[in-house]
Amino acid sequence: MSAPSAFRTDLYAGKVALVTGGGSGIGKGIAAALHDHGATVVVLGRTPERLDAAVAELGPRARARACDVRDAAAVDAAVADVVAWHGRLDVVINAAAGNFLAPAATLSSNGFRTVLDIDAVGTYNVSRAAFLAALRDHGGAIVNISATLHYGGTPLQVHAASAKAAVDAMTRTLAVEWGPAGVRVNAIAPGPIAGTEGVDRLVPAGLRARLERAIPLRRFGRIDEIASLCLLLGSDAASYVTGAVLVADGGAWLPGGPTAAMAD
Ligand code: NAP
Ligand code: COA
Repeated sequence: MSAPSAFRTDLYAGKVALVTGGGSGIGKGIAAALHDHGATVVVLGRTPERLDAAVAELGPRARARACDVRDAAAVDAAVADVVAWHGRLDVVINAAAGNFLAPAATLSSNGFRTVLDIDAVGTYNVSRAAFLAALRDHGGAIVNISATLHYGGTPLQVHAASAKAAVDAMTRTLAVEWGPAGVRVNAIAPGPIAGTEGVDRLVPAGLRARLERAIPLRRFGRIDEIASLCLLLGSDAASYVTGAVLVADGGAWLPGGPTAAMAD
C-alpha cells in the first residue's frame, strides 16, 4: 500500500526526468512518482517490452528508450535522444543495477566486473552523458540509488558492495565537481524493499521474518517510500543538498539496529 503523496502534484511540472532501471521495481516506482508530480519521464533499460509495459502504466508523459548503461556510446545516443525529444533534461535517476548472491571465493572475475560495470560504470556513463548534453547548461539534479551493503560487510555481496561504494564515492565527487554548474548529486541507500527483484534475489524467503525483526522499524521498506525521497532530492525542496547519501532502511544498518528487540 502506498502512502498519499506529501508533495504538490505540480512539483515537477515542466521538468524532464530520465530514470535508468525505470522498467521495473524501485526505478519504475520512482518514474511513476515523478510522472504523477508533473514530470515528463523517460525510462531506460535493456528490455524494450518491459519498458513499453511500464510506459503504458505510467501515463501520457512517459516514454521508453532501450539501452545498456554499460555501453558509453549507446548511453550518449540515448541521452541525446531524450534531449532531442523534450528539449531539456533536468533530473537523472540512476537505478539500473544487477545483483545476485555469490561467495567471493567462487565468484568469477567476470561476475565481479559485470556488477561493477552495471552499477558503477553505468551510473558514471549516464551521469556524464546527461551533464554534457543538458545539465551543465541549465543545472539539474542526479539521484543515485545506492545501498547499505558496504557499510558493515555483507556476505555474498563483495561485487555489489564494492559497486555501491563506488557509487557513493561518485556521488560525493560529482557533487563537488558539478556543484558550480548548479548540478546537485545525491544518493539514496535503501534497505530491503518489499516486492522487488532485489529482495527476491537476495533475501531467502525463510529468512525474511527474522530479518524484519532485526530492523528497528520492524518491516521492509516500500517502493513509494524510496520514491518520495527521490522526489525530495530531485526537487527544489532540496536545493541546498548535494553530496548526501540518504539512508532509508528503517534503521537496519545502525550497529545497534539488531538489538532493537531489547526495547520491546
Ligand atoms: P530491478 O527491478 O531488477 O531493477 C533493476 C533495473 O535495472 C531493471 O529494470 C533492469 O532492466 C535494469 N538494468 C539492469 N541492468 C541494466 C543495464 N545493463 N542497462 C540498463 N538497465 C539495466 O531491481 P530493484 O530491486 O527494483 O532495484 C533497483 C535499484 O535499487 C538498484 O539500484 C538496486 O541496487 C537498488 N536497491 C534495491 C534494494 C531492494 O531491496 N530491492 C535495496 C537496496 C538497493 P533490464 O533487465 O530490462 O535491463
Ligand atoms: N552467481 C555467480 N555468478 C553469476 C551469477 C550468479 N547467480 N549470475 C551471473 N554470474 C556471472 C556469470 O557466470 C558471468 O561470469 P562468467 O563469464 O565468468 O561465467 C557474469 O556473471 C556475467 O553473467 P551474464 O549472465 O553474462 O551477465 P548479464 O550481463 O547477462 O546479466 C546480471 C547481468 C548477471 C547481473 C543479471 O543477473 C541481470 O541482468 N540482472 C539485472 C536485474 C537484477 O539483478 N536486479 C536486482 C537488482 S538489486
